[in-house]
Amino acid sequence: MSGYYLIVYGCQMNKSDAERIASVFEFNKIKPAKNLREAKYIIVVACSVRQSAIDRIYGQVKNLLPLKKMGAKLILTGCLLKKDIVKLNKFFDLIIKIEDIKDFARKLKITRKKTTTKNYLDLRPKIKESTAVYVPISSGCNNFCSYCVVPYTRGREYSRSAKFIIKEIKSLIKRGVKDIILIGQNVNSYKDKKTDLNGLLKKINTIKGDFFLHFVTNHPKDTSSQLLKTMKTAKKIGHYLHLPVQSGSNRILKLMNRHYTISEYKQIIKKARLLMPDINISTDIIVGFPTETEQDFKLTAALMRKARFDMAYIAEYSPREQTIAYAKFKDNVSPKIKAQRRIILNEILKKTALKNNLKFIGKNLDVLIEKQDKNYFYGRTKNFKETRIEINDKRICWLNKIIKVKITKATPWALEGKPFK
Ligand code: SAH
Ligand code: SF4
Ligand code: F3S
Repeated sequence: MSGYYLIVYGCQMNKSDAERIASVFEFNKIKPAKNLREAKYIIVVACSVRQSAIDRIYGQVKNLLPLKKMGAKLILTGCLLKKDIVKLNKFFDLIIKIEDIKDFARKLKITRKKTTTKNYLDLRPKIKESTAVYVPISSGCNNFCSYCVVPYTRGREYSRSAKFIIKEIKSLIKRGVKDIILIGQNVNSYKDKKTDLNGLLKKINTIKGDFFLHFVTNHPKDTSSQLLKTMKTAKKIGHYLHLPVQSGSNRILKLMNRHYTISEYKQIIKKARLLMPDINISTDIIVGFPTETEQDFKLTAALMRKARFDMAYIAEYSPREQTIAYAKFKDNVSPKIKAQRRIILNEILKKTALKNNLKFIGKNLDVLIEKQDKNYFYGRTKNFKETRIEINDKRICWLNKIIKVKITKATPWALEGKPFK
């Protein structure tokens, strides 16, 4: 047994944390194991956003225990609630808070050295694919949406120093990275001394090189007109806005503690589309929040038709311990109704997404090529649309290049095109 093996659940934040964990191993000369069975260190990076996410960890434990008996060390980190830490403690050799990840090599006695990095986000990430890379600018959250575990699992929000972020991005660009995706639970509240998100984006935009710049996730209460203007004017920023709305009902938004109204939300979208007609807007929605009536749901459906989203991640409400909604409300919408509501919203999405994509037919768009198989190159446009390009000449390799593509076809979830000469 040698090497390490990572099992990663959850969002981009966890993926980016996993790249930092990998780099700590490799710094200590421990390589990735070929498979789970051969690994000396098995690290599970958990997500607790919904019960189904954490259930997977309990499922995984059954597979891991025989390996532990054979000598593997099991480590658990990521987003965890107190009760799960208590329950899972007996199965793992080490449970470590994500912000203490910088010290885990010492805790496992892999090294005796203490890291000098204060903030774990400043650890150098190990990058697998060089095309697109997540760069965390903050972690944690202070918003306490009533349904959400993140403020409890990741703690209070803290921002990374702009200086370190810029340094990391410059080094990534030098290594050939073509898409910098800034991530944080609420990127709009980024703050380092005098630099806010606007300032940070403007600074990154001046870094030399041919690359796209994206940022997620935006909170509607903090998405300013100034930010939309910066998106329009800063040449490297792709016109993509992930703006979770969660519900179309003001009554439910209030119970969710979201601090905006639907009319304010619509205003942001209207402004964004006026400034950037090609903008790609995606969202997150929760159906079946406690007390959600048919009337509340109809308001969400109406908003979806009006907002014409390009993508929506629609989740059924899952009660989470430690949250305000869990303490205050009964989970009173049945699983059957939740599922029905999710399906209806997905049908609306399919229509609006297709309508939006059809508008790109005949347009020439910049596409970053990320993958290829026998017949196609696959990539993403600058405004974050999946695109497929037929390979006509097998001698050409466009991998990791930004090329101009003439769009010829569209489905709800992707575009297709030909290289534009
Ligand atoms: N910071 C982001 C979201 C982080 S969690 C934001 O503020 O929008 C990602 C998504 O998971 C949320 O947008 C929400 O739609 C969903 N989610 C969070 N808690 C949930 C819960 N208890 N039940 C169902 N979905 C949930
Ligand atoms: Fe959770 Fe709300 Fe924070 Fe997003 S803004 S991470 S939904 S508490
Ligand atoms: Fe992400 Fe799940 Fe944590 S969605 S922030 S990994 S709870």
